[in-house]
Amino acid sequence: MRKKIVAGNWKMNLSFEEGQQLTSELVNMYRDEAIKDVVVVLNPPFPHLYPVQRLVGDMAGIFVGAQNCSDKEGGAFTGEVSAKILASFGVSYVILGHSERREYFKEDQTLLATKVNQALAHGLTPIFCCGESLEIRESGTHEEKVMEQLTASLFHLTPEEFSKVVIAYEPIWAIGTGKTASAEQAQEMHAALRGHLASKYGQAIAAQTSILYGGSANPGNAKELFGKPDVDGGLIGGASLKSRDFIEIVKSFEI
Ligand code: PGA
Repeated sequence: MRKKIVAGNWKMNLSFEEGQQLTSELVNMYRDEAIKDVVVVLNPPFPHLYPVQRLVGDMAGIFVGAQNCSDKEGGAFTGEVSAKILASFGVSYVILGHSERREYFKEDQTLLATKVNQALAHGLTPIFCCGESLEIRESGTHEEKVMEQLTASLFHLTPEEFSKVVIAYEPIWAIGTGKTASAEQAQEMHAALRGHLASKYGQAIAAQTSILYGGSANPGNAKELFGKPDVDGGLIGGASLKSRDFIEIVKSFEI
């Protein structure tokens, strides 16, 4: 069975105190409400990673992830953080290829392929984001576009390497807009993605790959989204900043 995963993407939000409070609340709720069989990943801004990791402690099922890493191994790259450094702080996941990084920081597909290599080389699990703009959705070429993003940045991996990757489908028109893709639209794209993975890596690996949905997911729509056969969880932005909302999303699987 592939893993069910709910990852919170805090983006550039929360002070030290706010991050500590949110994490404590989440850890307590996860434990007290006896949540099982769902992997939770908290992806705060870099300075939070270590203190959040300390608070999570050895709580089974909750992991810490970064929102980005360098494409370089190390050295004179002021302001960058390498996968190697992240791994040494106990970080286990890293979001790569988020549309905000593609758009605002001009991260292209070749750069992302190198970042994926760095993450895997240091034992981090990439949460690799893909997704189309509204313009592309309306032109009807969205599937083509999203498949191409995978091909360009992931298909150089060996099957063994690829089997460690998590995919997040995030239609750009749904991110932070309050406009979610319908569960049917998500399922359609996730099934296409799984088919694309199968064509390259075979059915077994495709069936084992977790494909998350992201874009205005909230406690009100998560049940329907996660109820679809190819939707294995979510990458949650805004709703990950409120402990009760995030935990309700985590509890939205029919287990
Ligand atoms: P959102 O963000 O849930 O606020 O739409 C999702 C994301 O960008 O990962």
